[in-house]
Amino acid sequence: MKGIILAGGTGSRLFPLTKVTNKHLLPVYNAPMIYYPLWTLVNSGIQQILVVTGGRNAGDFLRLLSNGKEFGLKHLNYTYQEGEGGIADALRLAENFAEGEKICVVLGDNILQGSIKQAAEDFERQPKGAHILLKEVANPERFGVPVFEGDRIVRIEEKPSRPASRFAVTGVYFYDATVFEKANQLKPSGRGELEITDVNNAYLQEGTLTYSVLEGWWTDAGTFESLRSAANLVAETLAKK
Ligand code: G1P
Repeated sequence: MKGIILAGGTGSRLFPLTKVTNKHLLPVYNAPMIYYPLWTLVNSGIQQILVVTGGRNAGDFLRLLSNGKEFGLKHLNYTYQEGEGGIADALRLAENFAEGEKICVVLGDNILQGSIKQAAEDFERQPKGAHILLKEVANPERFGVPVFEGDRIVRIEEKPSRPASRFAVTGVYFYDATVFEKANQLKPSGRGELEITDVNNAYLQEGTLTYSVLEGWWTDAGTFESLRSAANLVAETLAKK
């Protein structure tokens, strides 16, 4: 399985912190934000990784991460997203890199306490489809939210004003090679972006989306409040070690 980190976007919710740099280069306690998704992938055993970035600061990623040696990698791959087409648009740039293999996509602002190793191993055995990781949160309206019938997810709603469950769909996604066909068929959402939630809904319609619930804390870091909370969670976790 190959890994993809999506680290583009304007980071408008963190403006003016993101006026002269990319969101994923901002500090989260003692490490640049992008280190965390990179650690998540490397610690799950994934060695072939692509960083998708964009904007004016793309060169800084190369300077920061180099060939991934610091992360125990032999090599690191990069690509460039032009414009602001959304998460699923950025994902389309990974098609050549994936070469028909299964992929694990991590959003560059997602920070996890625990490991996704087990989920990655389980997905290797899943014959086809996709697997998402859920986490119970206090503010599901900020995220993609699964709608359940019993234990089964029937639909995922993107940032619903009245969430149907207490769960967020985290920014860690496992996909088979059909993800690119699905991403290519999407229409822009109300916010003018190709939504990852619509990719997941396409798998749901096909009946091939599975899920599990993440252990340990999880947060994104794309707003002032979540960036602060991410730094606190990292600091508290390190202090306990
Ligand atoms: C994105 C996805 C959302 C998901 C979240 C996880 O939201 O659209 O479904 O729950 O990442 O971090 P965004 O960060 O673009 O608001």
